Amino acid sequence: MKFFVDTAEIKDIAELNDLGMVDGVTTNPSLILKSGRDIIEVTKEICSIVSGPVSAEVVAMEADAMIAEGRKLAEIAENIAVKLPLTWDGLKACKVLSDEGKMVNVTLCFSANQALLAAKAGATFISPFIGRLDDIDLDGMDLIEDIRTIYDNYGFETQILAASIRTVGHVRECALVGADVMTAPPEVIRKLATHPLTDKGLEQFMKDWAKTGQKIL
Ligand code: E4P
Repeated sequence: MKFFVDTAEIKDIAELNDLGMVDGVTTNPSLILKSGRDIIEVTKEICSIVSGPVSAEVVAMEADAMIAEGRKLAEIAENIAVKLPLTWDGLKACKVLSDEGKMVNVTLCFSANQALLAAKAGATFISPFIGRLDDIDLDGMDLIEDIRTIYDNYGFETQILAASIRTVGHVRECALVGADVMTAPPEVIRKLATHPLTDKGLEQFMKDWAKTGQKIL
């Protein structure tokens, strides 16, 4: 499973990228707001660090304007994936931009039927939002499983990009059900390395080591 990092914070992206943990980046208008940066400038900087797909989201609501914004965003770098909302206009823009050879990430997907439409419109990625479904007491992981089955049934090449990941449990489940990619905030990716038994074991080893009175260096 590929790891995308869901942030526009350069420091986090650079640190995780140096560790080999970043196969791509996703941003959205809320993350751009949080960064306090200009969308074009910050996206250009991200693309100079990360060679994998970097999603940049359009903000227009109508297809023609989405296409124009998508073309402008795609000029930033070769690895831009134009992020479009899963609306009828978004699907129209997806078809046009995909036919032009641009990567497209269709976002805000909450149903298997929406995912089916995005695949038929040529999306490179479909982004089902797990956490936001969990927020309303639905099981976001059921959606990932349904999309996996449907895409496999018909050989769609659109990659399932599990989004709105909030917990380490989400990451494990995405890997088990076969999401192609997951995108998570930096803190969730860092948390994957932690386990209480690792901490406990290390504490004991350090205590015992101190008692030996030895040094390695
Ligand atoms: C994905 O592309 C979105 O930017 C993101 O995963 C949304 O996550 P949230 O529901 O935690 O805001």
